[in-house]
Amino acid sequence: MSGGAEKVVCVTGASGYIASWLVKLLLQRGYTVNASVRDPNDPKKTEHLLMLDGAKERLHLFKADLLEEGSFDSLFDGCEGVFHIASPVDFSANNPQAELIEPAVEGTLNVLRSCAKVSSVKRVVLTSSMAAVVYSGKPLTPDVVVDETWISDPAVCEKSKLWYVLSKTLAEKAAWEFSKENGIDMVAMLPGWVSGPLLQPTLNATLEPLLKLVKGAESVPLIYPAWVDVRDVANAHILAFENPSASGRYCLVERVLQFSEFVKLMRELFPDINLPEKCGDDHPFASSYKVSRERAESLGLKFTPVEVTLKDTFESLRARNLF
Ligand SMILES: NC(=O)c1ccc[n+]([C@@H]2O[C@H](COP(=O)([O-])OP(=O)(O)OC[C@H]3O[C@@H](n4cnc5c(N)ncnc54)[C@H](OP(=O)(O)O)[C@@H]3O)[C@@H](O)[C@H]2O)c1
Repeated sequence: MSGGAEKVVCVTGASGYIASWLVKLLLQRGYTVNASVRDPNDPKKTEHLLMLDGAKERLHLFKADLLEEGSFDSLFDGCEGVFHIASPVDFSANNPQAELIEPAVEGTLNVLRSCAKVSSVKRVVLTSSMAAVVYSGKPLTPDVVVDETWISDPAVCEKSKLWYVLSKTLAEKAAWEFSKENGIDMVAMLPGWVSGPLLQPTLNATLEPLLKLVKGAESVPLIYPAWVDVRDVANAHILAFENPSASGRYCLVERVLQFSEFVKLMRELFPDINLPEKCGDDHPFASSYKVSRERAESLGLKFTPVEVTLKDTFESLRARNLF
């Protein structure tokens, strides 16, 4: 145990894929964690958290909803750090405004308004996304290195009807504006496509298409191939909270793979898997670019190689009979 002894922090959306790992690592480091869930009575959302080492002594579950004004006030009281992770992840919303954009943008502002009311909160770590980075309209070619100065353009997202991407872009923009106006010390984490073992019992939106692919999907499902390990994402959030000099945005991508590279790697790992030979030229898997790891590594983050991440992902799915 180290780092967090006697410190209280809050994680929003604690039952989710990334947040569950964050809660696990925070408890391991000795933190007391106030965790927000939408339904504390749903065992599918809470049992895996309550079973974590240290949970009995130091995990407190609270009911909160992003769209309920003031819902987070009591959770943050006495917390030094707030990890705002909750946001809908859905690539096929029927009503993007209500299902994605409102909870992402208004929910983030709701959380930040509660932070501004509570004097104990010293830093907010916001989970944004590479979605809020790469859709700037600039070309993505093999010689391009994307870094934290890139910002997605809402007009580009809207034109391509990328509603999840738009929700993350607008939420991060609103968060920076609010934090600057209200003197909140905020750091934003920008993960790529997150994979790796799951702690929660149900499949989340980014593992689902991967599973479809290895189960014999006829075409390549929507997967953005800028890979990062869920354990590294959780760890990066903690490093950003603990390092007083952390500031601004941090891209979290181990590697971008083209489809042919992904297929080669998967065949080496799992020779019995059938994968499509090609993806379409306009599929995100077709573009090749690099993402700077410099700022993330300056926090002390050591990225897990994508080979290990993918192996652990499918072994975890297999162990849960989901594969
Ligand atoms: N997975 C990725 O590849 C990836 C990449 C970059 C960034 N991110 C970001 O990381 C965060 C977590 O994503 P994830 O992959 O871990 O997805 P996830 O498992 O679906 O987690 C999303 C969490 O948000 C909560 N949530 C959604 N709407 C809410 C609302 N109205 N009020 C309160 N909570 C609400 C969900 O609560 P319920 O459990 O009650 O539904 C869930 O706990 C999101 O901000 C996402 O945009 C994810």
